Amino acid sequence: MLIHAIPANAAYEFASEFAANVRVGLTRPGQKELLSKYLYDDVGSSLFEVISNLPEYGLTRADERLLQRHSGEIVARLDAPVAVAELGSGSGKKTRWILEALGRWQRTFYYPVEISRSALLMCQRELSDIDSISIVGFEREYLEGLREVAAHRQRNQHIFVLFLGSTIGNFDRDAGVQFLAEVRRILKPGDSLLLGTDLEKPSAQLLKAYDDEIGVTAAFNLNLLARINRELAADFDLSQFAHVARINPEARSVEMHLRSKRRQAVRIPGADLRVEFAEGETIWTESSHKYAPDEVFGMARAAGFECQAQWIDERWPFAENLLIAE
Ligand SMILES: C[S@@+](CC[C@H](N)C(=O)[O-])C[C@H]1O[C@@H](n2cnc3c(N)ncnc32)[C@H](O)[C@@H]1O
Repeated sequence: MLIHAIPANAAYEFASEFAANVRVGLTRPGQKELLSKYLYDDVGSSLFEVISNLPEYGLTRADERLLQRHSGEIVARLDAPVAVAELGSGSGKKTRWILEALGRWQRTFYYPVEISRSALLMCQRELSDIDSISIVGFEREYLEGLREVAAHRQRNQHIFVLFLGSTIGNFDRDAGVQFLAEVRRILKPGDSLLLGTDLEKPSAQLLKAYDDEIGVTAAFNLNLLARINRELAADFDLSQFAHVARINPEARSVEMHLRSKRRQAVRIPGADLRVEFAEGETIWTESSHKYAPDEVFGMARAAGFECQAQWIDERWPFAENLLIAE
């Protein structure tokens, strides 16, 4: 087992890109917004790991049950040999099932692509005992990382992309299809994508999943303001903002917001900004779209894939979808 990490390059000065995006999002007319990718600094990535173990958040366990049960069948459907690229791997815990199943057939290069350095490190630690793999982590945005993986593809090798955990749901529906089409453009016919999609379920169940009883999701969300304090020398008073999870029925999504408990102003010197908040005003920090099982077949087709197989968990409505590039 070989472990290697490709660090963020000079083109990724996250701090300054972060400052620019914070400025754009908090000065937007109407709904203020912070991009959900910024939830994942070191603290956020650790908190996400805790969320994935919460009783209310059945999503990760459903994803893992499907991978545990069907990995053999999934990899048997692939054109071998494959290199595995995982977009937003997080800790990579669930990926073990796929890598071990592949290990029965081949030695595998595994390329986790992560914006969060600490998630990448967790992932490398988590999977380092699997003898049949070599891990090369890319600290990159999804498409940038995938392009680098594709550039290193060996002759006759297929790329098997993993996009698990329903992270696709963080995109609006149209943007999600566009993203899949971008992924498809980087791939070749016969390459494949395993896409995890959380399915529609009752609102009460969804609200609990995104607003758990002991407040871990609230901490995950509020950490974004703490991150702005840490990295951009801002003076957000975290006690004056509250985590809110709400259903958006038209978008069929759960949204996370941070609600200002009173009228207040915040200084963010690192983004050269002073922002005013009205009492009750929110910052929109994340959307998680939910899908109907059939919908995924259409999304795949619109992006240039064929959804060849779908597996659905019996306990928590969640689908694992195997898409083949046409
Ligand atoms: C919802 S978590 C899912 C983690 C893991 N795949 C799972 O299923 O548990 C999303 C992961 O994607 C990473 N991420 C978010 N935006 C990204 C981007 N634009 N490029 C690369 N990684 C990103 C985050 O750091 C985080 O680890």
